[in-house]
Amino acid sequence: MSNTVVVGTQWGDEGKGKVVDLLTAKADLIVRFQGGNNAGHTLVVEGRQFIFHIIPSGILYDDKKCLIGNGLVVDPEVLLEEIKGLKEAGIVVSPNRLSLSDKAQIIMPYHKAIDLAREAAKGRDKLGTTGRGIGPCYEDKVARTGVRAVDLTEPDTLEEKIRVNLKEKNFYLTEFFGAEPLEVQPILDRYLEMGETLTPFITDVSVELAEGLKANMKILFEGAQGTHLDIDHGTYPFVTSSNPVSGAACTGAGIGPGQLHHVMGIVKAYTTRVGAGPFVTELTDETGDYIQERGAEFGATTGRRRRCGWLDLVIVRDSARLNGLNSFAITKLDVLTGLKTLNICVGYELGGKRIDCRPASLKKQARCTPVYEEMLGWEEDITGSREKDQLPEQARAYLDSIEKITGVPVSIVSVGPGREETIMVQNPF
Ligand code: GDP
Ligand code: IMO
Ligand code: MG
Repeated sequence: MSNTVVVGTQWGDEGKGKVVDLLTAKADLIVRFQGGNNAGHTLVVEGRQFIFHIIPSGILYDDKKCLIGNGLVVDPEVLLEEIKGLKEAGIVVSPNRLSLSDKAQIIMPYHKAIDLAREAAKGRDKLGTTGRGIGPCYEDKVARTGVRAVDLTEPDTLEEKIRVNLKEKNFYLTEFFGAEPLEVQPILDRYLEMGETLTPFITDVSVELAEGLKANMKILFEGAQGTHLDIDHGTYPFVTSSNPVSGAACTGAGIGPGQLHHVMGIVKAYTTRVGAGPFVTELTDETGDYIQERGAEFGATTGRRRRCGWLDLVIVRDSARLNGLNSFAITKLDVLTGLKTLNICVGYELGGKRIDCRPASLKKQARCTPVYEEMLGWEEDITGSREKDQLPEQARAYLDSIEKITGVPVSIVSVGPGREETIMVQNPF
């Protein structure tokens, strides 16, 4: 009776993939509910690294079912590539292991072309999107012109949609951006071909989840991105185009809120951000470089260097509220080893006044300065710790401060990328 939602509390890349893989041991169904292949979720199992962009991170357990919900934007090229990559690694992804919602939106070549053309045109003011067509695809969903997975199984519908859409998209691409137009036929041929391969995977995910619930199965919901990249609640406009908050698990998978029992927020022990936008605790000095190098902070999707800074509990506290968090998984604590002192941001100062929440105005965010509490660091290697009391006193004090300042208990502490490099304080299942 503990369906659990895993969400990022910062700007993504908190280690959601690792935690989902870990929790999958006790789940039956693992479902993603938003985002697309802008996500890059990394798992390290028995020394082998896997990076998933669309397929839920539960796929490595061969007796579990993974589902891609209606709330996603799916690039079929990437999905098929992922299925192929897993096959090469000896993991066969058949339709009894993976479902794709018939209502999921499909990323088309014109979405990628528009995403890239827009970013190029913005120059220095670009958002730093992943260039995967995520935003333009969600725009079409809301404009009610999107292609859905079910359309891949109906050649007439697909052809009609591509024809109509390309008229408008080509006008926009050529006239506004001076980019090359796209042709209907090659897109139609390729998408029909991919549709044929994907047809056995396409189902009604909401119905599958309902059947699972009836059979007392436990569901794990895998969020992508992070709360402060949320289109409504994030650092707008430097956000993604979906809702990574826990509430979206309902709309993006097709279940009711009463079925969500535990919401776990993943918190990296420091803060990172890839792409542009406000970052109050950013470190542009050698401490930032130290964290970036020790944490190997390069994007799992685009390979970009991630900006690094101190742990910002203002944004984490905002996330606790926005997601209704029941517990935290603190990740990458090992990366902080070797720093003499650590700063935790407990509030912001704006115009001489102390504030406790991130303001909506970008201009105000730019003027916020962090209020830090300084803590002692530790020197010991903690990657072998499997119980909280095996951690150095200073590391325990760091975790205790996070709990005290946010009011949210820590249920998992991750001390390395591997599945086993974990302290399970309390499993939510
Ligand atoms: P996600 O997008 O939230 O799933 O996170 P990413 O996979 O993009 O980035 C997290 C990175 O940190 C990955 O390379 C993980 O293998 C790695 N990682 C996860 N937990 C830990 C940890 O506790 N310690 C260290 N050193 N690395 C970790
Ligand atoms: P995971 O699931 C970190 C960021 C991009 C950019 C902004 C908008 O791995 O945590 P988009 O392509 O979504 O329109 O880009 O959002 N972004 C992420 N940053 N982790 C992610 O996913 C991200 N997905 C999108 O860098 O700043
Ligand atoms: Mg990532």
